[in-house]
Amino acid sequence: MREQVLTWLQAQVPRKRLQHILGVEKTAAQLAYHHGVDPQLAARAGLLHDLAKCFSPQQLLSEAERFRIPLDPVTTQNPHLLHAQVSAGLAGELFGEHDPQVLTAIANHTLGEPGMDDLSCIIYLADWIEPSRTGPELAPLRALAFEDLKGAVLLGCNLSLTELLAQDRPIHPRTVLTRNWLLSPVGVA
Ligand SMILES: [Fe+2]
Ligand SMILES: [Fe+2]
Repeated sequence: MREQVLTWLQAQVPRKRLQHILGVEKTAAQLAYHHGVDPQLAARAGLLHDLAKCFSPQQLLSEAERFRIPLDPVTTQNPHLLHAQVSAGLAGELFGEHDPQVLTAIANHTLGEPGMDDLSCIIYLADWIEPSRTGPELAPLRALAFEDLKGAVLLGCNLSLTELLAQDRPIHPRTVLTRNWLLSPVGVA
């Protein structure tokens, strides 16, 4: 399956995006091994997480309709936020990925989801910290990701929100709900 996905990606996404995807695949497997999660599931979710990243807004909206992904005012105005859920749909349709944990982790990688499992947390974090991503704000996140999975996702949510506020961009409620979950006693347990 990996070779098929790579051939598809090479035709669909620029070289830099492919480098990011391969970085997420590798980092996800490392994080999974470290945290006692199946590294093969993590690698598959990493490889498939951004299939729809380079789709146009119109394409994302029509694919969301085709996969019956519910829309809301924020995603309708910002269709790029749908690329995670559309990628999960394509992973099943094009590459026969039907593991529900893998598909959920792909779907959760951008906005998170309250109560998400360790595999979802790993893909969320690998997307932030894979080696081709740079920036001084990533150093503490890279360290924390190997120490405290949920603490690191909380830091990732905070970084997302800080970026969105600084750029005056809309905040999707799921990012806020995910952060609230992580701050609750259940989230940190
Ligand atoms: Fe993504
Ligand atoms: Fe990504």
